[in-house]
Amino acid sequence: MKIPHPIPYQGSKRIIANEIMRFFPKKIDRFIEPFAGSAAMSVASAFFYKANQFLINDINEPLICLWDKIVNMPEEIVRDYHEIWTGQLGNEEEYYYQIRQKFNETQEPKYLLFLLAKCVKAAVRYNSEGNFNQSPDKRRKGRMPENMRYDIISVSNLLKGKTLFYSMDYEKILNMATPNDLVYMDPPYQGTAKNGGFRYLENLNREDFMISLYKLNQKNIPFILSYDGRTGEKTYGEELPDKLNLRKVEIDAGRSSTATLHNRNHRTYEALYISENIAQTINFDEKQKSLIRQPTLFETI
Ligand SMILES: C[S@@+](CC[C@H](N)C(=O)[O-])C[C@H]1O[C@@H](n2cnc3c(N)ncnc32)[C@H](O)[C@@H]1O
Repeated sequence: MKIPHPIPYQGSKRIIANEIMRFFPKKIDRFIEPFAGSAAMSVASAFFYKANQFLINDINEPLICLWDKIVNMPEEIVRDYHEIWTGQLGNEEEYYYQIRQKFNETQEPKYLLFLLAKCVKAAVRYNSEGNFNQSPDKRRKGRMPENMRYDIISVSNLLKGKTLFYSMDYEKILNMATPNDLVYMDPPYQGTAKNGGFRYLENLNREDFMISLYKLNQKNIPFILSYDGRTGEKTYGEELPDKLNLRKVEIDAGRSSTATLHNRNHRTYEALYISENIAQTINFDEKQKSLIRQPTLFETI
């Protein structure tokens, strides 16, 4: 049985979800993902019954509309994906650009799913006008409709009736959190956000983000943050201020998205920052011994 992952997305945490979950508190009333993207951590948490309620947010509105469809109207999006995917046969490249234009005109989530399945590295890229401008991967047709169907139906079974979707700035979502929730944050990486145009829809103001983390600490809200990383000897992004009292661990992510993005043949270590209220309950010596990546249950894209 595989953990489903319907939305192909560069930067997805599906490969290291198991490692991240090892630092979760024992009891979580609600799992909150303010920078959800493909929401790999929410899906993995639902799969392993880590929480019963989920809040999934991303500033990218069509992406959140797509999530809503996948979870609440899975039959419709399975049908749409099948129709759009089979439409490409025999005329793949030109067809991709037609769908891209339709998406930019209508913002309809069904087109976005096809674009993400078929574009280079499943990487969202926008131009300065906010139009999706990633090119097609000419070697692939995108995930087969029958595989996509499995992922969509499975994710819907996991999240339906338990999940609220929002498309807002992360700060508004953090204001909704309570000490009984777990907030997992994976904002655009400092080291990669400005490479190759707009990687995601929006980049992050570091100072504002630090203030948000202080506020979470003040309110005693447990949180885990994926922030920067290291490829070989090169570190991306600045260290977080000591005053935040976060515990940092490094996860071996193999040749992950960051390494691929920089076209280097090095291992990537992703940094995970754990809030003090969670860190106090963890025996790090034991955990640190086995941070080597285990085989994952996720499907590859
Ligand atoms: C690194 S990706 C998250 C990937 C995710 N962990 C996964 O498993 O797919 C960062 C996400 O943050 C979103 N984002 C960027 N700025 C944001 C903001 N101000 N508020 C909320 N979401 C934002 C982007 O649209 C992008 O999907």
